[in-house]
Amino acid sequence: MTTFDPVPVLTLDGPSGSGKGTIARAVADRLGWHLLDSGAIYRAVGYAAGLRDLDLDDAEAVARCAAETRIEFRDPGDGGDTRVVIDGIDATDAIRTETAGAAASAIAALPEVRKALVDKQLAFRAAPGLVADGRDMGTVIFPDAPFKVFLTASPAERAERRYKQLKAKGLDVTLASLLHEIELRDARDASRTVAPLRAAADAVVIDSSGRSIAAVVDAVLALVHKG
Ligand code: C5P
Repeated sequence: MTTFDPVPVLTLDGPSGSGKGTIARAVADRLGWHLLDSGAIYRAVGYAAGLRDLDLDDAEAVARCAAETRIEFRDPGDGGDTRVVIDGIDATDAIRTETAGAAASAIAALPEVRKALVDKQLAFRAAPGLVADGRDMGTVIFPDAPFKVFLTASPAERAERRYKQLKAKGLDVTLASLLHEIELRDARDASRTVAPLRAAADAVVIDSSGRSIAAVVDAVLALVHKG
């Protein structure tokens, strides 16, 4: 690579529960690349808007909140989960609840909010490379990315994975309600007019249903190594 080549980006888009987060983290670790968890940014903004008691339909106020909120990703240094710090307060667990997910999905449908978050996301593109996890990474934010993956899994499998994750965290949820939430969120993400969830024309679609994390990580890495 010459110094004039743009920093490579691997975009990993897909619906919630497709395993994107886990795969993105593992692939970034294996490549030694940076990681952008764009969903956490939308979750953080939904959470910050809640703290300010904003009406989540008030596009202008939420966009201002998106622009003003300081969102930091901190490596705890002990091999644990990346901490998400919002205006100086650790909100790692608070933004992972189903309520926070629903708030994120609601504010993510506002074009003004998406626009306010573009530069924050572009800033993650740094050498030696970036793995960008989200819904519109390959279609809107990094359309020039040389590597694009769209990761899917059946709704039932995604609900089950989410159920196990939340149960492990001690949260009180039911499988049926999670499946319902996932289907609602998918429909909203796919039908919104701005940056709807869809695979980029040049993305490789990988279905993770019934496949191990290791197998999916290898399939994604193979794309990068193929060049
Ligand atoms: O990926 P995660 O479930 O954390 O994302 C939460 C919500 O944020 C999604 O349901 C989606 O509505 C929104 N989102 C988005 N664009 C992204 C990432 C997340 O609209 N790039």
